[in-house]
Amino acid sequence: MELINTASELHQVIEEKKNAGNTVGFVPTMGALHAGHLSLLENARKANDITVVSIFVNPTQFNDPDDLRNYPRTPEKDLTLLSGAGCDFVFMPPVEEIYPPSYQFSYTIGPLEEKMEGKFRPGHFRGVVTVVYRLFEIVTPHRAYFGEKDFQQLAIIRKMVSDLHLPVEIIPCPIVREPDGLAMSSRNLRLSPAHRQHAPLIAQTLFQAAEKGRSLSPRDLEKWVIETINKDPYLKTEYFEIVDPDTLEQIDNWIPSKAAVGCIAVWAGEIRLIDNIRFLP
Ligand code: PAF
Repeated sequence: MELINTASELHQVIEEKKNAGNTVGFVPTMGALHAGHLSLLENARKANDITVVSIFVNPTQFNDPDDLRNYPRTPEKDLTLLSGAGCDFVFMPPVEEIYPPSYQFSYTIGPLEEKMEGKFRPGHFRGVVTVVYRLFEIVTPHRAYFGEKDFQQLAIIRKMVSDLHLPVEIIPCPIVREPDGLAMSSRNLRLSPAHRQHAPLIAQTLFQAAEKGRSLSPRDLEKWVIETINKDPYLKTEYFEIVDPDTLEQIDNWIPSKAAVGCIAVWAGEIRLIDNIRFLP
């Protein structure tokens, strides 16, 4: 495994590999890696000759300076994990490599950014599309791998790739969960022991909601999920919305023969956790 810190060096190495006929799979991350990230890498390894993982805590996607300051950073452990998992190239750039002084990127996301995460984290998705576009420009991958836990992020990146005709295939990968159901997230490292103990109620409630499924209306199911989670004094739901997976519009009625997705954000003390569940037709 090779560690590269500059955009020009990585770009050149990848060009050489591609010219020699290799396909490139890319996993963008913000580090503090866990089994969810490693499953993205595993998928990338299966389908590509070369894999690149980036580790970059992107300042422009943090709407809260405290969240950026406290975001977990475990670079040495990350490198050990990636090397053990068979990654070929790790890209760990300083901020100036991603955002040189003259760098500008403007893309209008549209209605997909106004909902859910976008409503509660203003500017967040603008930061995400900017860094993802810039990373694609540097890495020029054939395929890029994103976890379905960040469902809205995935929808927005897919739309950007389609709108801008970017020559990369976006591969969604299933949520990886702890044995108690909690969706894996770098932020789980920051949960207090008590909040960690209570946090699995989020996923467990979503699983129960999926079982209830279409026996209730989407709105009644939303209400039930929010009330069930908020009964736990350690958890406070910010939103739970059952949406059309393409438009992310909240639905009033189940759409026949189309899955819906329930997306949730919950505060566990000072830590904000997200998760989602699919409601099959
Ligand atoms: O999902 C993440 O970890 C980040 O939003 C991403 C895609 C690496 C961009 O910084």
